[in-house]
Amino acid sequence: MDKAKKILDKYGASLREEVWQLLALGFEVMKKGVDTAHTEKHVLNILDNLERFLKSKEIEVEKIDFEVLMVAIFWHDVWKSSRRPATPWLIIKNQCFEGWGSARILQKENLDEMFDKGRQKKIIWAIRNHQAVKTPFGDSLESRILQDMDRLERWDSGRADEFFPNFKNFFVIKNKRSLDWMERWYRKWYMPRRDNESKYHFEWSKVEYKRRREEWEK
Ligand SMILES: [Fe+2]
Repeated sequence: MDKAKKILDKYGASLREEVWQLLALGFEVMKKGVDTAHTEKHVLNILDNLERFLKSKEIEVEKIDFEVLMVAIFWHDVWKSSRRPATPWLIIKNQCFEGWGSARILQKENLDEMFDKGRQKKIIWAIRNHQAVKTPFGDSLESRILQDMDRLERWDSGRADEFFPNFKNFFVIKNKRSLDWMERWYRKWYMPRRDNESKYHFEWSKVEYKRRREEWEK
């Protein structure tokens, strides 16, 4: 919460008390995450990215609806966080439905009491559309910010270092050679080929992506 507060304070933005409570609830869910790539650390790293992005002044901060953006950041991975994709099929399924899964969990909270329909829609579509398989709907400024900050976070090599040892504990294939092959495939093939500059919305993100990628490939 401190990190979010620091960012908001810097830009003179504030959240209503009930929105802070909603963020805290999402953060608690992430803390209990079993997928080590999607715990509260993931949220904190996204906030770090956001802080640097805003500092670049590429966009006018006044245009951001911070309540919408923060709720989307804190809740976008609550579904994925609690799941252990034990088979290749489940990994693919996660990639296709994660945004919809998280949005559904968030919709169980009392959003009607906090946000009007338009802002609820913005939050829900930002969360739905952060996943690999996207729709042409709901592409708001907040949604694009979440997508870029989230996408950049996967290039954090420390995240992969933590993920793989844990992944090997719950993945259904236990053969060491197969698991080592998967890790190499992920680091050398999947990551470098799956991402490219055109997937980022903002100039700052594109530059940051190139820097992180060079670092990854060293
Ligand atoms: Fe994420």
